[in-house]
This record gives sequence, C-alpha cells and structure tokens, in this order.
Amino acid sequence: MDELIKVREILQFTLGGSVLEITYMIASILFIIGLKMLSHPDTARRGNIWAAVGMALAIISTIVFHQQDGEHIGNIGWILGAIALGTIIGTLIAKRVQMTAMPQLVSFFNGMGGGAAALISLMEFPHISQALITRHGLLNGQVLVILLGLMIGSVSFAGSMIAYGKLDGKIGDIRSGVLRIVNIALLVLLLGFIVYIMSLGQVEPSNVMYLVYILFAVSLIYGVSFVMPIGGADMPVVISLLNSFTGVAAAMGGFLYDNQVMLTGGILVGSAGTILTVLMCKAMNRSLTNVIIGAFGGGASGEADQDGHIKQIGVPDAAVLLNYSPRVLIIPGYGLAVAQAQMLCHELDKLLERNGVDVKYAIHPVAGRMPGHMNVLLAEADIPYDKLLESEEANQQMEDVDVAIVIGANDVVNPAAEDDPSSPIAGMPILQAYKARNIIVMKRGMGKGYAGIENNLFFDEKTNMLFGNAKESLQQVVNEIKNM
Ligand code: TAP
Repeated sequence: MDELIKVREILQFTLGGSVLEITYMIASILFIIGLKMLSHPDTARRGNIWAAVGMALAIISTIVFHQQDGEHIGNIGWILGAIALGTIIGTLIAKRVQMTAMPQLVSFFNGMGGGAAALISLMEFPHISQALITRHGLLNGQVLVILLGLMIGSVSFAGSMIAYGKLDGKIGDIRSGVLRIVNIALLVLLLGFIVYIMSLGQVEPSNVMYLVYILFAVSLIYGVSFVMPIGGADMPVVISLLNSFTGVAAAMGGFLYDNQVMLTGGILVGSAGTILTVLMCKAMNRSLTNVIIGAFGGGASGEADQDGHIKQIGVPDAAVLLNYSPRVLIIPGYGLAVAQAQMLCHELDKLLERNGVDVKYAIHPVAGRMPGHMNVLLAEADIPYDKLLESEEANQQMEDVDVAIVIGANDVVNPAAEDDPSSPIAGMPILQAYKARNIIVMKRGMGKGYAGIENNLFFDEKTNMLFGNAKESLQQVVNEIKNM
C-alpha cells in the first residue's frame, strides 16, 4: 500500500492534477485501436489484447488517482477482492467453454455488463446532489441519466439471460400476438414511469426509492418478454441489439460519474452494437421497430411440404464429383463449428485447387451462432480471406457453380425463406445453393437447423446427402481424393 501511495505521489508530481485524464485518454485510444483491429480476423486477437490493456489501465488509474472532495477511493480491499474474484471466475469460465458454446458465453457476459450498469443507477439514485434537487427537483439531467441507465441496463441483463438460455437450448420460443401488445404496453409504461418520477418535484430521493425499484422490476419483465418471442432465425439481431443496450447503459454511467473513459467505452460498444444491429436487420430483411417490440418472424409452423425423396451419395462418388468439377463452392454452417472441421475443410480446398478446381467459400452473415462466426472459424484454419464470398456475390455466381458443398449449414440455405411466407425465416436472404448445378449436403442426419424447420433443399433432385459427422466425412473425402 505504501508503494502505491509513493507511485501516486510521483506521478501526480510529474504530471500535475491531470494524471487521471491523461491515463483515461490513453485507455480510450487503446479501446479505439482495439476495436478497429477487431474488424479483421488477422488482427482480432491482438485487438482484444489492446482493448483489455486499455481497460486494465482505466481501472488501475481510477483506483489510484480518482479523488472526490480531496479524498481518494476507499474500500480498496473490497474492490481488489471483487476484481480478483471476477478475474478468477471469468478466466475459469472462458478457459473451459467449448467453442460452440461461445455465443452463450458472450450473451452471459453482455448481460453482466447490463446488470452492472443497472446496479450503478440503483446505488446512485439516493445520492443525487441536494443542490440539484433544491434547484430543479427531480427534473434534471442527472436523474434522467440514472433512470435511463437503470431501464436499459436491466432490459439488457434480463434479455441477455433469456438469450443465453435460448442459445443453450434451455428455453424455447413463446410466439403469441398477445406478447407483442404486452411488449408495446410495457415499453410505454416504462417511459411514462420515468417521466412520472422526474415530475415529482423537490422530494428526498430516498423517499421515492420504491418507485425506482418498481422501474427496475418492470424493466426486468420487459427484458424477458421482449426476447421471449424471438426465435427462428432472428436471434442474431437481438443479440447485437442487447449488446448495444449494454454499451448505452454503461455510457449513462460515464455521464453520471463524469468519467470520460467509461463514457468512451460505453459509446464505442453502443455504437458498434447499433451498427451491427442495423447490418443484421438488413441481412435478415427485418425492421428495427419490430425488433424492439419483439415481433419477429412469421407465426406459422413453416414446415416444408416434402413430397420427394432424399438421394444419398457415397464418399467415392462425392470425391469424384468434387475432383472433376471446375468450380466448387463451400457453404459452411453451424455444423462445421460443432464438428470443428475447419482444418479439414481447408485441406480439401487445397487438394482440389492443386487438381485444378476453383474453390471458393460462401459466407452467410448469420451462419453459425454469433456474428462473424464463420469468418473466425475459417481464419483459424488460415483460409485466405480473398476466397470468401459474401452472400450477394456468391448468389450472383451460383448458377455457374458445379458443386455447392453445404457443410453443416441448414437455415442459411433453406429455400423456405424465399418461397414460404408463413415460415419463421420468411424474407431472410439465403445462400441460393439450389441454383448450383449439383449440391452435396454434409450433415449427420435429417436434423433441423436453429429455426427448427424442414429444408426442401435436401429433397431437391440435384441434392446428394452425405450423412455423417462433418469432420469424419471430410476426412474420408480427402483420403479418397488423395488416393485417386
Ligand atoms: P443451422 O441452421 O443451425 O443448421 C446446422 C446444421 O448442422 C443442423 O441441421 C445439423 O444437422 C448440422 N450439424 C450439427 N452438428 C453437425 C456435425 N457435427 N457434423 C455435420 N453436421 C452437423 O446452421 P446455419 O445454417 O449455420 O444457420 C444458423 C442459424 O442459427 C440461423 O437460423 C441463424 O439465424 C441462427 N443464429 C445465428 C446467430 C448468429 S449471430 N450467427 C445467432 C443465433 C442464432 P444434423 O443434426 O442432421 O447433423
């Protein structure tokens, strides 16, 4: 502790009173550089580290240099104890998590951020400055920031926990028109309640704390009811929306404490999440208003009317078809991540290219279970970025593709999105594998995708099913081609 005080004194002497602002500025710059690096798989890992260093710097400098009314932060033992506990739990969870369970973990961590922001508001409401209340009553910016932070943070916490349960398969969808009305009513109620609390005039905040608890409880209920009906193929949008909510709630904390680094961090997360939400909405052909009131997808079952038969293909025939086709397009999906078959996928690709086949990958924006899932997976296997085609580009070339090989993908190639308006994925742009000259689908059986609906592509007369775990099937095809 003596050393800490000495370091603090030396730094304050050399840098003057602005030491905290300088470290906050450095931390903010590290966040921005880190975020920029996250936008490419090659630099994403380092970007994460840069941003983490920025966060560590922000936390340490707050503990060491922050002062209020000439007093440094107290309860250091408690703070360090909580940080140590959080670090141990976080590290253990992150180390043990399966790659396929990452989306759930991201949702869980996001919820924790929202919950923390809500707790800040709950803690700070009774401490609103008396001078402010004497002048303006509760009708002031500080109260608005606290109440909005509480509402948004709580919605993000409860919504993320439901999203966690859904991604983990523990919670199903509840689709009902009534929920849509309930959601609109709850949203209006929440906003009206904030206005009501602010209009109460010069009251002692601790006397109206019960109203703040009611706001907290209703926000939690809204968080649950707005994510509950979302399912089918629409989870990606809600996940990025919840992410942006957490950022905005944290930014509210930054306003409240006049803390620049918290504000910058919150705004970065909030705006990145919002941009991602808009992109996801576009990718899924959905409107943002519908997301907010939780009115996603079609209500009907979306069962396909398969009257045809499926056609199976053996490993030798699949290997011949692939090896003697001029153009092959690989369409990876969630099953590739489950099977962890990305390395073998690259091996197949290299082998075919060596034999003169042109191989490309088609990436659907919501393939897998988290934004950029397929990009990360393929980057892990060192697959060159210029081999990846985005949906639109891939679809333009699809008619010239000799074999579209669908590996563990289902919803993202399901034609029901285009031809069945009652399907839960109706309107979602898909990879139009059905337009390719031949289609090979690698999956374990006739299991459904995330949206839980049948896929007519598997019954298409151009489709050949190669059943088995994607990793084993790919290994067998690779061996077969090697022996040709
Ligand atoms: P899905 O539609 O989920 O289909 C994956 C398919 O992989 C399943 O039908 C399964 O069939 C097969 N599979 C599972 N394990 C396998 C293995 N070991 N080997 C071979 N196949 C295996 O995947 P998708 O096409 O990538 O679509 C993603 C879905 O998730 C979309 O509906 C999307 O909206 C949703 N979602 C996406 C996100 C983000 S942000 N990307 C987030 C949440 C939800 P079998 O059981 O027959 O093998």
